[in-house]
Amino acid sequence: MAKRISTPKIKALVAGNWKMNGTGRQLGEVSKLVTAVNRKKPSADVMICPPATLLSRMAALKPKGVALGGQDCNADIEGAHTGDISAEMLKDAGARAVIVGHSERRADHGESDKAVRAKVEAAHRAGLMAIMCVGESLKQRKAGETLKIVQAQLRGSLPAVCTAKNTVIAYEPVWAIGSGLTPTVAQVEEVHAALRKALMRRFGDEGAKMRILYGGSVKPANATELMSVPNVNGALVGGASLKAKDFYGILQAYC
Ligand code: PGA
Repeated sequence: MAKRISTPKIKALVAGNWKMNGTGRQLGEVSKLVTAVNRKKPSADVMICPPATLLSRMAALKPKGVALGGQDCNADIEGAHTGDISAEMLKDAGARAVIVGHSERRADHGESDKAVRAKVEAAHRAGLMAIMCVGESLKQRKAGETLKIVQAQLRGSLPAVCTAKNTVIAYEPVWAIGSGLTPTVAQVEEVHAALRKALMRRFGDEGAKMRILYGGSVKPANATELMSVPNVNGALVGGASLKAKDFYGILQAYC
């Protein structure tokens, strides 16, 4: 596999989103990943976002070279929100980041851009990096609305002040998630370029340095190609992050 590093000045991030998968039995996958990552250090930052029930157990393993993140947070610090978790609680459990605005949250829980923006603010308040997701549905892509949709999500879901340190964008076409389908390189390049332009317009230099991840059916077999697209600064990986072997296969794009 060819050696690849994304845009030279931006250190890539490859984050695994375990979604609602994993019990204590899967903790061994993290240990395997840590071993692999420390044997041959990738040039990208590596992160796993497990279900909240596993966060502190993973943190207790002190996974050298693998940062941890949450998958969602409530916008409030604490209070009467049964079943919810605050950004501060995730931080306390060992998270360094939190995914917000994933299309599954936007669809399953009716989260609006405004709600997502409040979660980004909560992440920043707690000292977590927000990984904010945008992406179009197949219907929207077919209608030629992709750029309009992702730009509107970006505008509405980010607060006025964001830095390259505390904010990461993930472009995840909804139709590519868990489907085995991926956009063409040209399609990925077009969206990432539009996102970069919008980020620079809004955040200046910080927008130029902000990481823009691609997510949606990233696998070892397509990682090198996708990760070498201009303005792709890493990946948000679902299914293929559950097994250390597959996830490390994706990290090979940065070894
Ligand atoms: P997938 O999920 O890699 O299983 O397509 C990506 C995501 O939803 O973050």
